[in-house]
Amino acid sequence: MTANPPRLIIGQTLGFSADPFAEGPAAAWHDTRGGVLVQDGMIAALGKAEVLRAAHPQAVVHDHGKALISAGFVDAHVHYPQTGIIASWGKRLIDWLNGYTFPEEMRFADPAHAARMAGTCLDLMLANGTTTACSYATIHPESVDAFLGAAQARGMRVMAGKTCMDRNAPDGLRDTAQAAHDESAALIARWHGVDRLSYVITPRFAPTSSPAQLDALGALWAAHPSLLMQTHLSEQVEEIAWVRDLFPQARDYLDVYESHGLLGPGAVFGHCIHLRARERARLREAGAALVHCPTSNTFIGSGLFDLAGLKGAGQRVGLATDIGGGSSFSMLRTMAAAYEIGQLSGSAIHPAQLWWLATAGSAAALGQAGRIGNLAVGMEADLVVIDLASTPAIAQRADRAADFWEALFPTIMMGDDRAVTETWVAGQPLHRRDG
Ligand code: GUN
Ligand code: ZN
Repeated sequence: MTANPPRLIIGQTLGFSADPFAEGPAAAWHDTRGGVLVQDGMIAALGKAEVLRAAHPQAVVHDHGKALISAGFVDAHVHYPQTGIIASWGKRLIDWLNGYTFPEEMRFADPAHAARMAGTCLDLMLANGTTTACSYATIHPESVDAFLGAAQARGMRVMAGKTCMDRNAPDGLRDTAQAAHDESAALIARWHGVDRLSYVITPRFAPTSSPAQLDALGALWAAHPSLLMQTHLSEQVEEIAWVRDLFPQARDYLDVYESHGLLGPGAVFGHCIHLRARERARLREAGAALVHCPTSNTFIGSGLFDLAGLKGAGQRVGLATDIGGGSSFSMLRTMAAAYEIGQLSGSAIHPAQLWWLATAGSAAALGQAGRIGNLAVGMEADLVVIDLASTPAIAQRADRAADFWEALFPTIMMGDDRAVTETWVAGQPLHRRDG
C-alpha cells in the first residue's frame, strides 16, 4: 500500500506561541509567505513556503497566494438542535426556551429529523470555517447518536452530550435522575474516545434539573473524571432570580453546581455574565472554563460579558456562537460581536486576542490545547483558508492596511462565510467555497 502523499498548503500563516491576553499581540506569529505541510491528518512541518517546497518535492502543493491559513475555528458552545430556530424574534431567555426551543427540541424524538439537522448544522459550520464544536443535543439519546455519527462521517473532532432535564420542561422533554445517569453512561460507553469524538456530561441548567438529577450527574462525572461537563451559568437576571427561588440554600448560582459535584477543571460554563465576586473567585480556583457567547448575549438581551476583566484575572475563556440563541454560524461574526461588547465595556479587544479566542483559546477551554486550535508540528490538521478581500467593502479597507492586523480586522468585523475559501479537516479539504 502506498502512503498518501503529503500536501503543502501555502499562504499567509498565523499561529500563537502564547496567550495574547497575557503577552499582547507578540504572542502571535505571522508569515506573509508561509506553508503548512500536512500528512496523515497531522501538521508535519511549518515554515517558509519556498523552504518547505524545496524540502518536500513530493508534496501536492495548494497555493492560496495572499489568503490566510489558520487553525480551524473552535466553537465552544452550540445547540445543534436549535439550527432550525436560529434568529427567532422577540423573546428573552425563559420565553424563548418555552416558545421556540422546547417545541423544536421535541422534534428530535424522530431520529430522521435529528440526522437531517445534524448534517445541516455541521455543513453550515464547515462552510464557516468551524472544524470543532462542543454541542448540546436534546433529551433524546438518539439525538447524540445523530450528531456524533454525522461528525464521525466527516472525520471531525466534536464533543456533545444528551441535555438532561427532569423538571420545568414540557412533557416529552423530561427524563428522570436515574434515566439521565443511565442514558448518559450508555452514551459514554458508545461514543467517548471513538475516533475524534468525546462525550460531555450535560445538565441543561439548574432550573431544569432537580437536586436529585444534579447529584446523579455529579456522581457520573466523579466516575468519569476525564470527561468535560457543560452547562449554563448566570446568563440572564430573571434566570438568576429563578435559581435563587429553586435553590434557596445555595450561596449563589455557581454553588448550586458546586454542591452537587459539578465544578472542576473540566467544567465548561456557558455565558457567565452576571457573576458575583465569590463565583469569580471559585471559578478561578477550580480552573473551570467560561464560554463567551456574544451574539447570543445581545440577541436574547442577556448582558455584557466582562472579557477583559475575566481574562485579566486569569480565567480560562473560550468563544462560541451559542446557536441558536446566537444569531450566526460564523466565528468571524462572533469575534466582531465580542469586539463590540468589549467596546461597550470599555476595552478594545485586539485582533490577535479575538483570533486566539476563536481558535487556541476555545480549544484550551475544551481541554484540547496541543491537539487543535493552533498551527504547530504534531497538531491535528484542521485548517481554514481565509480570503482577506472577500467582499468589495472588505477589500477596499484591507487595501490601505498598514500592517497585518489592520488587514485582518476588516474581515473579523465584516466577514462571513464568503471569506472562508476552504476548510480542512484532518488533512483533507471538506469545504470549498467555489465548489
Ligand atoms: N439556558 C438553558 N438552556 C439554554 C439554551 O438552550 N440556550 C441559551 N442561550 N441559554 C440556555
Ligand atoms: Zn447554550
